[in-house]
Amino acid sequence: MKVLVWGCGNMASAFALGLSRAQQDLQFICWNPSIEKAQALAKKLNGVVLADATHRPSVDAVILGFKPQKLSEAAPALSGLTYETTVISLLAAVSIARLKTFFPAAQLLRVMPNLAVATGNGVALWQGQQTWGARLQNLGLAPEVSEDLMDVYTLHAGCSPAFLFSWIDDAAKFASAHGGDGELSRKILIKAWQGALAGLENDPLSMQQKINEVASKGGVTRAALDGFASRAPDYIDHGFAAGLKRIQELKS
Ligand SMILES: NC(=O)c1ccc[n+]([C@@H]2O[C@H](COP(=O)([O-])OP(=O)(O)OC[C@H]3O[C@@H](n4cnc5c(N)ncnc54)[C@H](OP(=O)(O)O)[C@@H]3O)[C@@H](O)[C@H]2O)c1
Repeated sequence: MKVLVWGCGNMASAFALGLSRAQQDLQFICWNPSIEKAQALAKKLNGVVLADATHRPSVDAVILGFKPQKLSEAAPALSGLTYETTVISLLAAVSIARLKTFFPAAQLLRVMPNLAVATGNGVALWQGQQTWGARLQNLGLAPEVSEDLMDVYTLHAGCSPAFLFSWIDDAAKFASAHGGDGELSRKILIKAWQGALAGLENDPLSMQQKINEVASKGGVTRAALDGFASRAPDYIDHGFAAGLKRIQELKS
């Protein structure tokens, strides 16, 4: 099976690496405006670089790895794709209906992954072509979701690693400001969260019950939680809503 990676940035690279890790029968062909990125990815995938974008080989799938804002600019170079090819779009905020206007004859799969798909520990929400959708199970958690929920869960799947990194960064700054070591702060948080997350999927307790296990009345954790809430009681809702609003803007 031949897979063309069209745009070899961070996400498409992670996605292609995850696919190749799980399926040895895939042959990758990489193209990117700056050829160095295509060369670097092709090397990791044991694939080849497409030197001339105007001489596109026929392939079973094309992974769209550019930014959503580049769709109109990038799509003409991929014109003429037939039903034999599945377009696998990683583009946030681009619906199947919109993809159809650019690739009317091709089969379409919309995926919202995160970077950890490279190691099989990621999330890959998907919608559309079923055969390729089923292949995503090897990347980690890969539920099929509806159009509307794809947008909501984009915040949970694609974006959430950055939310976590931002929290770790702020906590490290707090440790440093109080004479601690930011690197040790990071290590402590990673271990604490790994431990907290282990087994959580199958834990029958609700999140409020889990919070209460840690945060007793009048205790330190409760004081810290109250501190977050008093400054910005709905900051998570506020942030998610801002992300969802940006998705709607990118769609218009
Ligand atoms: N990063 C994430 O965690 C994440 C998560 C979920 C979904 N996504 C989606 O993944 C896509 C890529 O995001 P990214 O974070 O990987 O960005 P990125 O690292 O900046 O990659 C974008 C790539 O697109 C290439 N490109 C630019 N113009 C192009 C064109 N006309 N045709 C083909 N390729 C072109 C760029 O090449 P040059 O550098 O040479 O310009 C670059 O390699 C986005 O649509 C985003 O919504 C990302």
